Amino acid sequence: MSRLIVVSNRVTPPGPEGASSQGGLAMAMSAALREYSGIWFGWSGQSTPEFTGEISMQSAGGVTVATMDLEEQDIQEYYNGYANGTLWPLFHYRIDLTQYERSFGAGYERVNARFADMLMPLIEPDDLIWVQDYHLIPLGRALRERGAKNAIGFFLHIPWPARELMATLPQHRQLVEAMFHYDVVGFHTDEWKNAFNNYVLHEVGGMQLTDGSVRAFGRTTLPRAFPIGIDAKGFAALKQSDAGIESYTRMIESKAGRKMLLGVDRLDYSKGIDERLLAYERLLNDSPELKRQIFMLQISTATRTELDAYQDIFARLDSISGRINGSMAEMDWIPIRNVHRMHSREELAGIYRAADVGLVTPLRDGMNLVAKEFVAGQDEDDPGVLVLSRFAGAASQMREALIVNPFSQEDVADGIRRALAMPKDERKRRWRALMDGVERDDVVAWRDSFVQALESARDGGRKKRAPRIAATRGEG
Ligand code: G6P
Repeated sequence: MSRLIVVSNRVTPPGPEGASSQGGLAMAMSAALREYSGIWFGWSGQSTPEFTGEISMQSAGGVTVATMDLEEQDIQEYYNGYANGTLWPLFHYRIDLTQYERSFGAGYERVNARFADMLMPLIEPDDLIWVQDYHLIPLGRALRERGAKNAIGFFLHIPWPARELMATLPQHRQLVEAMFHYDVVGFHTDEWKNAFNNYVLHEVGGMQLTDGSVRAFGRTTLPRAFPIGIDAKGFAALKQSDAGIESYTRMIESKAGRKMLLGVDRLDYSKGIDERLLAYERLLNDSPELKRQIFMLQISTATRTELDAYQDIFARLDSISGRINGSMAEMDWIPIRNVHRMHSREELAGIYRAADVGLVTPLRDGMNLVAKEFVAGQDEDDPGVLVLSRFAGAASQMREALIVNPFSQEDVADGIRRALAMPKDERKRRWRALMDGVERDDVVAWRDSFVQALESARDGGRKKRAPRIAATRGEG
């Protein structure tokens, strides 16, 4: 079996099995790597006064991780700048928040070149290389420029924007051209893949080939949808861990017979958290009989706090929840529990289990693994109901959730009302269908389908070269 080298912006070494506070994507990556002898390479998340080119290698949770530190200027221009100040908002349809600074683009290219310089000596000829996410789009090209002949795949974990939005990015052609240095480019849904193809066909005059690959800039790549999943069985088991049982018990006690609506998000403007709170306020105003019967637990953990847009959403969330609580709370009932503290995955599994309604209502989201974890956290005999935004990639798979439009407060409020009133039989039926999907399309299936596509691309490439060698030999 070939080695698999996974490259992502940030690498969080997994802790001892089951004791991690990592997010869903990081967990998915460690689960994906565990069965491969290979390396997970990326930024340590730390800064260094001067880039040293040192790599720190360690083994944890069955995965070998190799990390490097970055200089402060790199972090500003690459991570806070181009990745999260430019590409993230643009790809989430927020051109109002997108920063179009030239220095960010230069920093982005420079750091991608650093990644390539550091990675090249670790690569062996048969390795499959799998690059993750929008921070590293130019990495494939940078590796090719340094002579890498390996099969290299890229996976985008966020949406691909409509062509009209993409065109607002200075040097958008250069960014898209970089995608053509990969053998396979993966998206979570057909919608994002089609948006990419639409750009290629109509913006740069590319063409689609019969096998689904696209050709432009003199190169060919294979765009395909590979919906990511979670470690479904592993996550379901966490709710039976000591910490999972403890948080479940604490929640049940503190619910005091009320029904709990639950939101768990990175504190990001794409997650639609303030819109969700406003929809909840609308629900309580329109259906006052629900007051005291329900409450919302919103767990939002801060990220990317150096960016204004993230400080703003943080302040907005606190202000909206403070206002709603101030105007509606009673001495023994508070409508919103607004929590910023991080929770371990075990604690989260217990909290999901205690929830009656899961609210996953992003305005735009590549996939959203919270939706899947919520389902895996439920008790089969008395499952909660998932209310899911139609703009989450997960909505294309999780059809038995209650699908809502997060831009409409009334629509979200209706969804919550329906979830609260849903008979147990229907809850069980919907949950079973959702859980079957979460188990079937799990993280291993995701990894295996991508790796297979990458292997076929490599073998296809070999076959194309093979006849020429045979012909030369035959003639000789
Ligand atoms: C999203 C991105 C990931 C990223 C994660 C955490 O899920 O798609 O690539 O790792 O957010 O982002 P952060 O900026 O906190 O590392």
